[in-house]
Amino acid sequence: MARKLMIAGNWKLNKTVGEALELVRDLRRLLSQVRDCEIVIAPPYTALYAVGKAIEDSPIDLAAQELFWEDSGAYTGTVSAPMLAEVGCKLVLVGHSERRQFFNETLESSGKRAKAALKAGLRPILCIGETLKEREANRTMEVVAEQLDAGIQGLSIKEVARCVIAYEPVWAIGTGKVATPAQAQEVHAAIRERLRAKDNGVAESMQILYGGSMKPDNAAELLGQADIDGGLIGGASLTAESFAGIVKARK
Ligand code: PGA
Repeated sequence: MARKLMIAGNWKLNKTVGEALELVRDLRRLLSQVRDCEIVIAPPYTALYAVGKAIEDSPIDLAAQELFWEDSGAYTGTVSAPMLAEVGCKLVLVGHSERRQFFNETLESSGKRAKAALKAGLRPILCIGETLKEREANRTMEVVAEQLDAGIQGLSIKEVARCVIAYEPVWAIGTGKVATPAQAQEVHAAIRERLRAKDNGVAESMQILYGGSMKPDNAAELLGQADIDGGLIGGASLTAESFAGIVKARK
């Protein structure tokens, strides 16, 4: 089964509501003709509702950057999957390395988050990837496999099939140091191989995105690799021209 390209913008801690709406207006203009790509944007929480409204009837889908696994209750400072679905989210990032680094998220909790997202009808984008230290110690595959297993642990094969995986080497995020297409392809192929052990058909159908300093000028080569089905874009998703440039980069 042919996998559809997905380009997802992770806006991180950027954009007021006003700025978000401006960016969305420009994206709609630049991307209105695109049919062969799933386009996703993940604004900060405060802009989700307004952006959700502004992308109705457009080819752009809304995602959140994070969620908590309980539906409601005494959990100050977070939001739940049903709340995200209510404002129009179709997807949600889970386990981003910045969440692990700055907010003490753990491998175990990424599985709970993925489960909660799926229960509310959201597709989790499970982010996995090694640090520079781990790569230099030749531990990349081991670390990525461990994170993948933790993220999909407890999911049925049908649920796994609804997940998107984002391979994001931590050393490439926001650093300008992009993985070479061969480096990325090697890990993507290993991820798919690991998924194959669960179910061959599901492994073939799942989108595995690359993330880490993807830009319009390096996107085509990365997206041209056999097991790279899209990108999770941070910095270059903050202007309409560069994000649209990545969406349209594939040869
Ligand atoms: P970057 O971020 O494109 O700025 O490297 C990617 C990400 O963190 O998802």
